[in-house]
Amino acid sequence: MWLRADFRNGAGMKLLFLGDVVGRAGRTAVRDRLPAIRAARRLDFVVVNGENATGGAGLSPDHARILLEAGADVVTLGDHAFDQRDMLQFVESEPRVLRPLNYAKAAPGRGARVYDAPGGRKVLVAQALGQVFMKRPFDDPFSALDPVLKQHPRGGLVQASLVDFHCEATSEKNAMGWYCDGRASLVVGTHTHVPTADARVLPGGTAYQTDAGMCGDYASIIGMDREEPLRRFLTGMSKGRFAPAEGAATLCGLLVETDDRTGRATSVEVFRDEPPIADREALPS
Ligand SMILES: [Fe+2]
Ligand SMILES: [Fe+2]
Repeated sequence: MWLRADFRNGAGMKLLFLGDVVGRAGRTAVRDRLPAIRAARRLDFVVVNGENATGGAGLSPDHARILLEAGADVVTLGDHAFDQRDMLQFVESEPRVLRPLNYAKAAPGRGARVYDAPGGRKVLVAQALGQVFMKRPFDDPFSALDPVLKQHPRGGLVQASLVDFHCEATSEKNAMGWYCDGRASLVVGTHTHVPTADARVLPGGTAYQTDAGMCGDYASIIGMDREEPLRRFLTGMSKGRFAPAEGAATLCGLLVETDDRTGRATSVEVFRDEPPIADREALPS
């Protein structure tokens, strides 16, 4: 129990989670702005969802390195985890990149790990995929996460634990928040790319937000250039591929403070970093 004794009452960590990085707009914004955000906010630990950072679909090793060098301690993926083929090898060699726990039995990489944070502290990060309205029938995320949380009690083996729950349905994300309340420091939804207005700390000390929103150009349709999705909605026909919108990006996510001794979230704040005004003026009208 020496580990517990090292952590004082009241001392805690400042964590930032950033939602799905979309395309060049999202990743250059993370590259250019995260280092200053990390310093100004005195962040101890940063997790970035990178599943759409390369062309809107998946994450290449080069782009993963950009996010890590910008200040992400961990990059999570999602249903697009292996859209970029090189990720199949890269995820095995780079422990700071996590794919969903319940992606597939044969998938390379891991869905949960314990990471070092400043001051000898440990942080568990895990990601799971939902089942409702998802294209593929992934395994049950609740039973996938349960043993991970049991093996890494917050305030015990780890000082904080973060769960990125990547799914479409708000109901399923709500359910996961309550399922993990009292066990995780943070449960945050990703995948739908639109931030929700329900960030709060649940009674058991688990910070929760149904969706963190994306890091990308919001003058878009969930990060994609508007033309093709609008055409499909209006005509039911597709003419081309979806392409990420290229205007200036807003970074969206969640700031959470935790207590080292208990692993509980003590505060949660929606995080939004708008593009600099000069870049905003270049946004498409
Ligand atoms: Fe996404
Ligand atoms: Fe996704």
